[in-house]
Amino acid sequence: MPADGPSPGLDVLATPRLRGERLRAAHGELLAGELYRDERVMATLGGRVLGEAEQAAALERGLAHWTDHGFGTWVFTAAEDRFVGHGGLRRYELPEEPAPVVALLYHLAADAWGAGYATEIAAASTRVAFEHLGSDVVWSWTQPANHASRRVMEKCGLRFVREAPFAGLAHHFLRVTRSEWEVRTPGARTGS
Ligand SMILES: CC(C)(COP(=O)(O)OP(=O)(O)OC[C@H]1O[C@@H](n2cnc3c(N)ncnc32)[C@H](O)[C@@H]1OP(=O)(O)O)[C@@H](O)C(=O)NCCC(=O)NCCS
Repeated sequence: MPADGPSPGLDVLATPRLRGERLRAAHGELLAGELYRDERVMATLGGRVLGEAEQAAALERGLAHWTDHGFGTWVFTAAEDRFVGHGGLRRYELPEEPAPVVALLYHLAADAWGAGYATEIAAASTRVAFEHLGSDVVWSWTQPANHASRRVMEKCGLRFVREAPFAGLAHHFLRVTRSEWEVRTPGARTGS
């Protein structure tokens, strides 16, 4: 991965149907209303809605990640600026891995589920990790009962590696290596 730092080229991320805009402080209220205060969304993200301080902390984490690492998450909208979700890439330290990993995350507004949008966000983010960040592996993880999220990962080429705790809850960890991704992705830029 290149040295951490700002990446103006990543400020916008397009998918076939969505436009992702780099997370900004001004997105805070939108994310809180559409995601963090919605029980349906939070059911698979820790099991409860977030209080105000937690909402602010979640936003601050996302903003600091861009500042510290030069990549992060985007806020995605469909036609006519309809909010769809928040997702992208984040760096994590996992106890089972010797070095920090790059992981996919995606949180969609409940009224946008079931239309293939999470898969678009995850696929575009995976491409950024391999083609722009120079990652060798992309990870993601989800609670075992979150079959839709697992399916999104599998559609992007990730495969099950292990079950392990994350944030105190059992999770299934999946990953895809650069070479696995290149084989299955038309137009992948290889050898970078
Ligand atoms: C999980 C989530 C991201 C899925 O988003 P989405 O846009 O509906 O996902 P997609 O439409 O791209 O793909 C979902 C896939 O899962 C499948 N699926 C949905 N519910 C399923 C279930 N209960 N069991 C098995 N597969 C299921 C869909 O059929 C689809 O697969 P297909 O294209 O092969 O038919 C969305 O529901 C969400 O944001 N939930 C709340 C936050 C969350 O859990 N985020 C992930 C944390 S790891």
